[in-house]
Amino acid sequence: MAFVLLFKLLMGSAAVATGLTVQRCPPKFELVRRGQTISTAERKYTSQRREHVLPDAFSAYLSNVKGTGVALPSYVDSILESRDKLPNVGLSISGGGHRAALFGAGVINALDARNASSVRKGTGGLLQAISHIAGLSGGSWTVTSLAQANFPTIQKLIFGDGENYGGWITELDLRAPAQDPVKQTEYVQQLLGEITVKAKHFPVSAGDIWGRTLARHFTNGTTLANFFTNGTHGSGILLSDLIKLPTFASHLQPLPHITINLASKHITGPSFPAGSLKLLPLNTPMFEANLFEFGSYDDALAAHTPLKYLGTTNNSICVQGFDEAMFITATTSNPFLLFNITANILAANTANYTTFINQTFPQSPNIRLDTNNYPNPFFGVAPETFADSEETILAMCDGGLDGQITPYQPMLVKEREIDVIIGVDAANDVPENYAVGASLIATQQRMQIFAEGLATFPSVPASLDVFASQSLLSRPAFFGCTPSTPSSQKPTGPIVVYLANGAPPRDGSAPLTNTSSFQFIYPEEQIQGMLAQTFTIATQGARIGDSLEDPEWAACLACAVVDRERERGGIKRSGVCDSCFTRYCWLEEGRELA
Ligand SMILES: *[C@@H]1O[C@H](CO)[C@@H](O)[C@H](O)[C@H]1NC(C)=O
Ligand SMILES: *[C@@H]1O[C@H](CO)[C@@H](O)[C@H](O)[C@H]1NC(C)=O
Ligand SMILES: *[C@@H]1O[C@H](CO)[C@@H](O)[C@H](O)[C@H]1NC(C)=O
Ligand SMILES: *[C@@H]1O[C@H](CO)[C@@H](O)[C@H](O)[C@H]1NC(C)=O
Ligand SMILES: *[C@@H]1O[C@H](CO)[C@@H](O)[C@H](O)[C@H]1NC(C)=O
Ligand SMILES: *[C@@H]1O[C@H](CO)[C@@H](O)[C@H](O)[C@H]1NC(C)=O
Ligand SMILES: *[C@@H]1O[C@H](CO)[C@@H](O)[C@H](O)[C@H]1NC(C)=O
Ligand SMILES: *[C@@H]1O[C@H](CO)[C@@H](O)[C@H](O)[C@H]1NC(C)=O
Repeated sequence: MAFVLLFKLLMGSAAVATGLTVQRCPPKFELVRRGQTISTAERKYTSQRREHVLPDAFSAYLSNVKGTGVALPSYVDSILESRDKLPNVGLSISGGGHRAALFGAGVINALDARNASSVRKGTGGLLQAISHIAGLSGGSWTVTSLAQANFPTIQKLIFGDGENYGGWITELDLRAPAQDPVKQTEYVQQLLGEITVKAKHFPVSAGDIWGRTLARHFTNGTTLANFFTNGTHGSGILLSDLIKLPTFASHLQPLPHITINLASKHITGPSFPAGSLKLLPLNTPMFEANLFEFGSYDDALAAHTPLKYLGTTNNSICVQGFDEAMFITATTSNPFLLFNITANILAANTANYTTFINQTFPQSPNIRLDTNNYPNPFFGVAPETFADSEETILAMCDGGLDGQITPYQPMLVKEREIDVIIGVDAANDVPENYAVGASLIATQQRMQIFAEGLATFPSVPASLDVFASQSLLSRPAFFGCTPSTPSSQKPTGPIVVYLANGAPPRDGSAPLTNTSSFQFIYPEEQIQGMLAQTFTIATQGARIGDSLEDPEWAACLACAVVDRERERGGIKRSGVCDSCFTRYCWLEEGRELA
């Protein structure tokens, strides 16, 4: 009878718009699925997409590459025109606030078949052929808003479609949109009001307010005109419901993945390093949310729960509505831990969100206010290896706080069979707000801790100096071009095509893409400038002699896309692909291209 009571309780207080419900679980409900395989639903989506969408998508992409006039070896054609040998391509978009969101958006636009300039460059069309897209922190804003808005072009994504979806509304400050303090307080009260029902049944935190904030920018329902008025502001938009959108129903979208870190009190790491965004140790458990499940592919946990029933902790009473798209996006972009050094800094940097929460919804002092808090569906699971197996609440936070600022892990899940990852890195590794390769190194190091059951991550330079001295930041670089270990003849994991926001423009124009992660207002003109420079970065390739651009770059990218399938087919790399790999592959000391 407990469930009836709970259900009534929730319904009785449903004054504030929210879709949270608590009911008896469906028959045969299983809270936890163990292992490192993908869900049945994902398997089904992927195979439908391979069958009905990818053949035409790759064929159109191939014709755009050919449009650049560069002769391709015949195996590129035959792979991309085959129905059964099509490659699996992943796109991973780093964190870094609006800078990363916009840089990621710029790369997406440069790969989009719907943009005539991208088509002319020969990169357009690859977006439509990608299987998986991952984002964390700022990168997840792009990934989730794109998915929920039904896959519009980047111009519509950022500036709105003039209808229900208002775009990113970057003219208002993300933390404090109201200039006036009184209005700002009213605004925060409105955000607090929107989590009242949830707070009755679940531990709430600054992360919930952050979610309501992000929802006004990255989901449907908010426009500049209704920004401060009472409304749902995306509160009913659940990540698990997006699969019903027309572009998902017709398998036109790549599957989105979001990575999230666990802030476990049982894992001690380095003390807060001044000036660095790395806060958690690399053995921090990494979680993934996709449209079907929430869980961890680390061998230390290897468990997943149905996304639709997130918030549930047993097989009898099922919660629904907890997986609000922007609550999960707020989790992967939850920055509050960074400021949790002293209460003063925390308050000043979070518009006093933690204080407001503490005053409005007093809770047990054991509940952290700086994380996003999830009832632990994995209670009692993997007690030997999962640090928080005995915790009732999982305190979750920004997916990049362990230093892996680009979400590569979803692409290393073996069954996804990813052949090539386009790694888009717009982290602010250095004070000039450029990426210098740190996230690749972090993932390489972490793979030494949790490699079991995952595909091989290619070797990357062990030191940052090499990235700079070998120009791996100012032009695209390929990693994993040779067999992954000297002893194994065949590589077991993907190639990484690394695209860094790593250097000022070659033509000497003023750099626009290296804005601070703490810039919270972006005028349209600035965004257009950033998108234009990102377009150049994604489409120019390497500098060739006196020419700023590589006329073969589009062909080279296609060579990387098909390379694993080429190798599986026992075909020798040839033609332009040979010279492309010489130009773009980074090789470990003593290794040679096969
Ligand atoms: C958001 O709005 C767009 C059009 O503006 C629509 O196509 C899409 O289905 C909407 N998404 C959701 C989750 O309602
Ligand atoms: C929103 O609703 C709350 C309570 O229902 C009210 O106090 C507040 O004034 C309203 N705000 C606006 C901008 O309408
Ligand atoms: C299942 O979880 C609910 C909370 O969602 C709790 O009220 C109930 O007592 C639990 N039931 C069992 C059998 O543990
Ligand atoms: C937080 O509260 C303090 C004291 O009430 C105030 O001085 C400060 O301006 C507030 N910070 C923000 C960002 O609103
Ligand atoms: C929350 O409020 C309680 C009671 O006022 C106070 O003791 C505690 O320090 C506050 N916690 C935080 C994190 O502000
Ligand atoms: C700050 O972090 C500590 C652990 O590092 C945690 O115990 C505390 O609750 C956090 N503060 C807030 C306001 O959540
Ligand atoms: C962007 O890079 C340029 C050149 O390195 C540098 O002078 C400038 O300060 C950077 N801008 C920001 C906001 O970091
Ligand atoms: C195509 O991309 C270019 C470069 O960013 C941009 O200027 C243009 O607006 C885009 N076109 C469309 C239709 O989105």
